[in-house]
Amino acid sequence: MKILAIETSCDETAVAIIEATGSVLKPKFKVLADALHSQIELHEQYGGVFPMMAKREHQKNLVPLLLKNLKKTKFLELRIKNNELSKEKELRNLKTILQKEPELWEEFTKYVIPISKPSIDAIVVTEGPGLEPTLWVGINFALALGLLWNIPVYGVNHMEGHFLSPLVEGTHITYPALSLLISGGHTELVLSPKPLTYKILGKTRDDAVGEAFDKVARILGFPYPGGPTISRLAEQAREELRIKNQELSFPLPRPMLHSKDLDFSFSGLKTAVLYTVQKIETLKDEDKKSLAKEFEDSVTEVLVHKTKRAIELNKPKTLILAGGVSANKHIRKEIQKLAKSQKIKLLLPKQKLSTDNALMIGVAGYLNIKSKKAKKPKKANGNLSL
Ligand code: KG4
Ligand code: ZN
Repeated sequence: MKILAIETSCDETAVAIIEATGSVLKPKFKVLADALHSQIELHEQYGGVFPMMAKREHQKNLVPLLLKNLKKTKFLELRIKNNELSKEKELRNLKTILQKEPELWEEFTKYVIPISKPSIDAIVVTEGPGLEPTLWVGINFALALGLLWNIPVYGVNHMEGHFLSPLVEGTHITYPALSLLISGGHTELVLSPKPLTYKILGKTRDDAVGEAFDKVARILGFPYPGGPTISRLAEQAREELRIKNQELSFPLPRPMLHSKDLDFSFSGLKTAVLYTVQKIETLKDEDKKSLAKEFEDSVTEVLVHKTKRAIELNKPKTLILAGGVSANKHIRKEIQKLAKSQKIKLLLPKQKLSTDNALMIGVAGYLNIKSKKAKKPKKANGNLSL
């Protein structure tokens, strides 16, 4: 089955086409096309993602990305359906769906309506969680395409996409599976006893890990998104410390390390960084490096400790590390050590798959279609949970 997948939950516009076969337990995926437009440069200057600005960007980018994919898969034979274009009712219905996305409507009428139906069996789209205004653009686009081409449209949970993202690389998940999902919006330990069934074992009570990385970066004077910068500085500090064998100068707390539950809290840690910075008269590059390292160490220690407890309590067969923050080298390394010591299979998707993308939405969509759980998206749900 050929699936068109659309992702617009935050600041990445992503469209992919995959060919999916196999069962829910042993699915197989072939990537036919995959296109992504990141809005990072736009949001960088404002220090964060502005939903309405992101919405407009998605409106502009969805059609070009779709056309790029269709060209790649050779599904696009630019046959102009001249006579059908005059179907007024069809146009009116499409306009009703896309009226809240004026820029998308413009592109849609110009470039999508004139092309013939591609050989796609289903369209899947992220319906939440995420920013509601941006989620709506993707959903409306998917619904309009579904209507135009008479193809079924299904909604996908973005977090389920992250959870299942390793499947894109041809790996299999052995259940029960535990996932540490760490991104800009989420920090969750999720147990999946069997395919498509989830239990949240613990989550953050305030800031998500990625959010904490971004806020600490801002305190230290670095642009959004700050995760990669903090990570790079921490690596440098670690290397320098190894050479000089120095003691670290800024101790930071390990929030909730010894709490009995599997929850997290990172807001106090960020405040501790802020207070430390306020006490330093002139913040030198060396201080920034030290703080980045201590912050990363603290976050990693807490994440690893709680994941270890979750493994001991639930005895999963697979551990999955997913979400944008799983691109962090130090966290990856420490989670690898943990998996080895616990003798558990670890699935670590590569960076391109750990940050937001449409392939993981396609994979989650396929498993839901295959198990007859897939439903048409009704609305954008910013707080949709697993
Ligand atoms: O999953 P994602 O692409 O978007 C969502 O939040 O859904 O995650 C983005 C987050 C940002 O907060 C970014 O700073 C963080 O992932 N991030 C990192 C690294 N690369 C990206 N955090 C720490 N270390 C990194 N290397
Ligand atoms: Zn995400």
